[in-house]
Amino acid sequence: MFTIAHLTDTHFGNRPEVIDRNRRVVDAVAALDPDVVLVTGDVADHGTAEEYAEAHDVLGTLTAPVLWCPGNHDVREALAETIFGAPSSEPLDVVFEIGGFRFLLLDSLVPARDGRRVGHGELADESLEWLHAQLESSSLPSFVALHHPPADVGIDWIDDIRLRDEAGLEAVIAAHPQVLATLVGHAHTAAATTFAGRPLLVGGGISSTLPLAAEGRPKVWEDAPPSFALHLVTEDLRLITHFRAL
Ligand SMILES: [Fe+2]
Ligand SMILES: [Fe+2]
Repeated sequence: MFTIAHLTDTHFGNRPEVIDRNRRVVDAVAALDPDVVLVTGDVADHGTAEEYAEAHDVLGTLTAPVLWCPGNHDVREALAETIFGAPSSEPLDVVFEIGGFRFLLLDSLVPARDGRRVGHGELADESLEWLHAQLESSSLPSFVALHHPPADVGIDWIDDIRLRDEAGLEAVIAAHPQVLATLVGHAHTAAATTFAGRPLLVGGGISSTLPLAAEGRPKVWEDAPPSFALHLVTEDLRLITHFRAL
């Protein structure tokens, strides 16, 4: 079975124990020997070059290819230079073909305004056009990945800063049956719903968990164990997701 380890919200540079939480997850993922590792954003907490270097060091120990999406805590230029190896201020929309599957990574980061980080996500028209063209060019089974969920997850303050204007993305995915699922982060919770008639899967959260209001936990639940998702794809293209908290 084709195996995707889906890590998200690593937040390197957050409180000191975050690096060990990441190391624990990376050790568990290495033992699982996945075909690909997907990191759906908030790689760094403040977007500094040092934080990206730390991310590169910790995840660079994995032998599988590691694919990265920017999140709202990331800084596009620093991520591009440190992780992608080339500076860019343009949206980091990239496609990878691995093991007969395509990974279409979208950049939903809204750059800081007046020096203040922007929480919600947006996709540029060019990004949607790029996605459409990519999906028209190949019918290989595909995953769309981005940081911001394009639908509500039931956590009010996160639903306020999810992807805006999701109708365009929904239309592109709905028109392309080879998209098996949309894989996201941002909500720091292992969660599953649907979008455009396909699974929409939140890959957990490494730095912390964001609970439902009814759980009566802190808004940012730092003591919850780091979590990640493992997506298995069968020969007949059924998707099976397991969530792990360590
Ligand atoms: Fe995050
Ligand atoms: Fe986020």
